[in-house]
Amino acid sequence: MAAHCMPAVHHLGSTTAGLLALCFTMCFGKAVDFEDIFCSDGLTPAECAPFLPSEQRAISSFLQDLQRMPMPKPSSFQGRGIVMSGGPMHVLQALANLAVLREQLQSDLPVEFWHAFELEEAHCRALERRGATCRQLQVPGVYRDFQTILPSIMSSSFKEVLWMDTDLTLLQRPELLFESPQFRRFGALLWPDHWSFDCRPWGQSARSNHVVLKLLDLEHNASDMLHAQEQETGLFLINKEVHWKPICLANFMASRDFFTLVLHGNKDLLRLAFAKLNNSVWLSPLRPGLIGGFMSNGLFLPASMVQFWPANGTFGTGPNGRAVPVFLHQKKVPGNLWVDILTFTTPLGTCSPYFPVPFHPHTMDDILSWRIERTDLDLANRISIADVTWDEAYAEGRRSLRPLLSEESQAMLEPKKAEQEAYVQPEDTDDFVMIAQEEGAGCGCDYNDNFFLYVLSVVSYLQLGYESSVKDDFCEPILQEFDWAPCRVGYATLALLCSQILRSKPEKAVLAKDAAGKLLPLVEPCAQTSPWPLKGLKEFVHDKTRHDFSGPFALEATRFPPSVQRCVPLSMSCWDTRNAWQDRLADGKAARRNALSLSACRFCCDRSVSRPLRAGCFDAVFTEKRCCNALEP
Ligand SMILES: *[C@@H]1O[C@H](CO)[C@@H](O)[C@H](O)[C@H]1NC(C)=O
Ligand SMILES: *[C@@H]1O[C@H](CO)[C@@H](O)[C@H](O)[C@H]1NC(C)=O
Ligand SMILES: *[C@@H]1O[C@H](CO)[C@@H](O)[C@H](O)[C@H]1NC(C)=O
Repeated sequence: MAAHCMPAVHHLGSTTAGLLALCFTMCFGKAVDFEDIFCSDGLTPAECAPFLPSEQRAISSFLQDLQRMPMPKPSSFQGRGIVMSGGPMHVLQALANLAVLREQLQSDLPVEFWHAFELEEAHCRALERRGATCRQLQVPGVYRDFQTILPSIMSSSFKEVLWMDTDLTLLQRPELLFESPQFRRFGALLWPDHWSFDCRPWGQSARSNHVVLKLLDLEHNASDMLHAQEQETGLFLINKEVHWKPICLANFMASRDFFTLVLHGNKDLLRLAFAKLNNSVWLSPLRPGLIGGFMSNGLFLPASMVQFWPANGTFGTGPNGRAVPVFLHQKKVPGNLWVDILTFTTPLGTCSPYFPVPFHPHTMDDILSWRIERTDLDLANRISIADVTWDEAYAEGRRSLRPLLSEESQAMLEPKKAEQEAYVQPEDTDDFVMIAQEEGAGCGCDYNDNFFLYVLSVVSYLQLGYESSVKDDFCEPILQEFDWAPCRVGYATLALLCSQILRSKPEKAVLAKDAAGKLLPLVEPCAQTSPWPLKGLKEFVHDKTRHDFSGPFALEATRFPPSVQRCVPLSMSCWDTRNAWQDRLADGKAARRNALSLSACRFCCDRSVSRPLRAGCFDAVFTEKRCCNALEP
């Protein structure tokens, strides 16, 4: 993933660009705007281009063959059932979710668990005890990046398949999905993923210039949700007789390295195959929500995704006319993190400001907290029973399976430690306790907002004796009447800085000093003890004749909350105001952007937050070492 906090700019040399233009003209027989092609974040247009002629040839000839291809005979497949697939590391999750299916939902749909000869007898017997039949793909081999999914679906005995990832938990009887009018009419049910085409850095495969759209010769249609939104691939239903061709097309694409490279395994293949072949499909009109728990610091940890069925349909209606949660994706290890559901008001096909890190729900405009424990006790019970059933079955599976496996196979049974860490509650409490305690004294600061890290960067530079050049809008929050409550100490420091930075514009410098005067009573109780450089504030403000504040602009790094402390002094090359100042109101005033998209950056520096959550903040250039002034253990 690209760095979230920093701009990622790919420069394309003009010679390369010329060659690319030539290639596209020759390869496609018409000029395609090469600059406009997106392959993936890891693959620049220049790196991508050499693949295109052969991929284009391959897909065209496959599409021609597909027209002539014989279809399976009507009796080839029978009945309906659930298909899963995976290797040893998926078995415990599968056992857990099968327990929910069998015990809680009382479903007796047949289940086939397909594998490429990786499972041992013991794994299969454990799966059979939970009512799944072990099946071996008849072409054994190395199936990378989820490549067993489509072969498993095609090989399964069922005519109507519910595909289910092993880390997918059903909350409703799947029989009802098969019986729904939507499935009977369309023969295929899909759900959308969180990300729409305009959701950088996400939503890549839904972008209008995605290379697969070009290869399939499809015109992007932003009002068609099959184009505009990425697809949830953890669960879908499909009638193989009706939709054999899109399955084949998806499988063809999944078998080509290039497609898995630009689509992250099998992600979104089915949606694109349906779009290409005009097969009709029911795509849930409801944006997925989040299900998770609150950490001790008050942040909501979005543990899993929750998918819905429209209200007043097959599954009835929840309180307040709400849609009905039908499945959760993805719980990978035990732990009860499904406490509340949040949904988004942003319509499907439009990007929500949501960014997948812990956040304060109340800081997000488009989030509704369901508070299920108060508003829908039935649902709260159903979810916690699923959660507990899951954990018990997982533990039972591990207990009974381990003694039957070799040491090597035991090691493969569970996700690696690093993967597990993402789901462990960050031990971030000291930090927030400290912030909360100081809040009463007026010295708390919401470090989730990058802007204050930027102010700290400027102070760091001054402290190190560098001239610092700041962006034009740096002083706006202090010159305009702004809501200073989230970080009075930060704004007071900004007022001091701006009264000096703006000395060439005396009327603005005066405004900044006035602001410092307004902030003084708010921060006075802690000005002497704050790690922010406020020691001379009072004298400066009270001396009406004085315009020079000579400082010292000294930061006491060790007195900052631990997560921030690690980054002080901050490097200006890593933090900027961009996040805080992206939005401008019609009257030209800067508006603070929804705080959520800012929060990732605080976690970048917070070593107590597990690495996977921080990883997205850095790339090869803006490394953790460079930005956080620290060595990773
Ligand atoms: C785009 O999708 C919308 C919604 O499905 C549809 O009404 C419209 O006709 C489509 N536009 C084109 C050009 O296909
Ligand atoms: C799908 O529909 C579009 C627009 O109606 C048409 O141009 C295209 O040929 C159709 N594709 C197939 C494979 O039927
Ligand atoms: C579902 O039906 C109830 C009761 O008739 C109604 O209040 C609610 O608005 C309906 N919800 C939707 C999404 O149609």
